[in-house]
Amino acid sequence: MPIQSTRLAICPGSFDPLTLGHVAIISRALSLFDRVVIAVSVNIRKQPLFTLDERAAMIRASFPGETRIEVEQLTGLLAEWGRTRGAVAIVKGLRAASDFEYELQMAQMNRHLNPELDTLFLPTEAGNSFVSSSLVKEVAALGGDVQALVPPHVHAVLMVRLAERAASALRAMPEVAESGA
Ligand code: PNS
Repeated sequence: MPIQSTRLAICPGSFDPLTLGHVAIISRALSLFDRVVIAVSVNIRKQPLFTLDERAAMIRASFPGETRIEVEQLTGLLAEWGRTRGAVAIVKGLRAASDFEYELQMAQMNRHLNPELDTLFLPTEAGNSFVSSSLVKEVAALGGDVQALVPPHVHAVLMVRLAERAASALRAMPEVAESGA
């Protein structure tokens, strides 16, 4: 009789916000592993637009009814967290050679910290190779159309948040604050 074991992979990232590039990688991880935990993580190099709660909620809404996916928030070390969850792999998308250096360094550090947790790189589909959360935010903030790059509910929330940010930046300008507008 075959030995049954559940193979768990982690898809970590800032997901600020989730893009269709992320959705494609998570879906492919699901076809390779039994279960996938999406670890919505703090990246100390980045200043997020959305809270961890907001980012996790947007991800959950993108995989309705998918029982093999869990979404969790990660504020500590990924390698240690993976150990406690019994994960066997970290799955990450690679868009271009420019991603590779940083991703390789993280993969090697994670392996140093937890040799039982390997990293698997999946090349993104060509159509997603230019898609990043940072560029989506930048383009949307400048009025560009990013509708085709993120799930519809993410697009709606992104538009609201950017409008809020723009309004609060305007209120913070001395001449606007003084006028009471
Ligand atoms: O989407 P990102 O921002 O490129 O993902 C980077 C992320 C969140 C995966 C990375 O910063 C991370 O693993 N953060 C968790 C804290 C940690 O373990 N840091 C050491 C990484 S070797």
